[in-house]
Amino acid sequence: MNLRALAAKAIYQVLENGMSLSVALPIQQQHLENSKDKALVAELCYGVMRYLPQLDKCISDCMSKPLKGKQRIIHQLLLVGCYQLYFTRIPSHAAISETAEACRQLRFEGLVKVVNGVLRNIQRQQPQLAEDNDTLKYNTPAWIVKALRNAYPDQWQQVIEQSHQRPPMWLRNNVQSQTRDQYLAQLAEVEIEATAGTSSEAILLSSPTDVNRLPHFSDGAVSVQDGAAQWAASLLAPQANELILDACAAPGGKSCHLLETEPSIKLVAVDFDEKRLQRVSQNLERLHLNAEVVHGDAANIDAWWQGDKFDRILLDAPCSATGVIRRHADIKWLRKEKDIAELAKLQHQIIDHCWQWLKPGGTMLYATCSILPQENKQQIAAFLERTPDATLVAIANQTDAADIGWQILPGQDNMDGFYYARLVKSK
Ligand SMILES: C[S@@+](CC[C@H](N)C(=O)[O-])C[C@H]1O[C@@H](n2cnc3c(N)ncnc32)[C@H](O)[C@@H]1O
Repeated sequence: MNLRALAAKAIYQVLENGMSLSVALPIQQQHLENSKDKALVAELCYGVMRYLPQLDKCISDCMSKPLKGKQRIIHQLLLVGCYQLYFTRIPSHAAISETAEACRQLRFEGLVKVVNGVLRNIQRQQPQLAEDNDTLKYNTPAWIVKALRNAYPDQWQQVIEQSHQRPPMWLRNNVQSQTRDQYLAQLAEVEIEATAGTSSEAILLSSPTDVNRLPHFSDGAVSVQDGAAQWAASLLAPQANELILDACAAPGGKSCHLLETEPSIKLVAVDFDEKRLQRVSQNLERLHLNAEVVHGDAANIDAWWQGDKFDRILLDAPCSATGVIRRHADIKWLRKEKDIAELAKLQHQIIDHCWQWLKPGGTMLYATCSILPQENKQQIAAFLERTPDATLVAIANQTDAADIGWQILPGQDNMDGFYYARLVKSK
């Protein structure tokens, strides 16, 4: 299979059908055996998502009329071609001929000349990529640029710049298997360069690698998890034998971390999405951990739980995921401005309901991978306002102890953008 054709198909699914790239990409990659080929298809897809407005403009400037309907896939293919010319070291002649061949494979023989012509034109002229408006200049929808500018008047450009970087690979050491220092030594033995992160079990790799190269990965020695997400376990701080709810658990990264930290807890891992919930079970199995996995609604706990109230609740709420754009560049195009108010409403419902299920004296950790205040500090400020028995407990890592919660910005200590607020219920 031609790699450019596979990339174009995945991009088509995202841009025309609203499918997430993390779903669309593996469907195309399964046609490939070689891990290098799989990585190149991923690079082409993620690259196009990062620079979509500029690539789009470059192509439309070279064409007299846009491709429509079924021919749209050839537009996506041209994006792939243009990305190669501007942003990769692939020799231009190879980029162009392979992209033209992909056009043939996609059964648009009649458009091969157009593909060749447009890409040759771009190669010859190498026009400056357009920067005439915020969307083009920052390769980010104008509404996100505006929201970030308002939220972070001094840092918004850095936040956008960080959201375009290739993300690092983080590991979470499994304390039940070995100490972090022991695992760092094992990595050094197989010549994988790595350093310790700021949270207790975090390991930052100098460059991403295939998990199969990681010592004892399949036995559960480590898991792949961003450094920011790894703060959840120590901030919730589960104690021996406590009853803990992970209210939005799938795919289970934080559930597993909680159990590794304190294996005696009774953990109830709930998620609304049955398919994603299967990944919780798979992760628990790989790590030899046990939890009660429930398919249910965190805004209607009464419907599926007849047990006691919980000692601690992790609420890793559904959110815009604007903090993880560097990992999932397609989020920029899939997320719409109106989604934010809807997500904030859903978060409001879930947090209020979960609070009813927290024991007096119990702790709730509210978390999102968003960097938008509506989902984070404004959400928590409003919650505190309407919830007299809730107190916010500052997190040591906050730069300003008076802030409502801890907002991590993308790239800070190499981590994803993330938000945590720790709330305690009066006795
Ligand atoms: C940010 S993800 C959770 C990530 C997870 N905590 C981890 O660390 O692997 C949010 C999850 O919330 C789930 N979700 C959304 N609405 C929900 C609801 N009403 N009840 C339970 N889960 C919900 C989504 O299916 C999604 O899996």
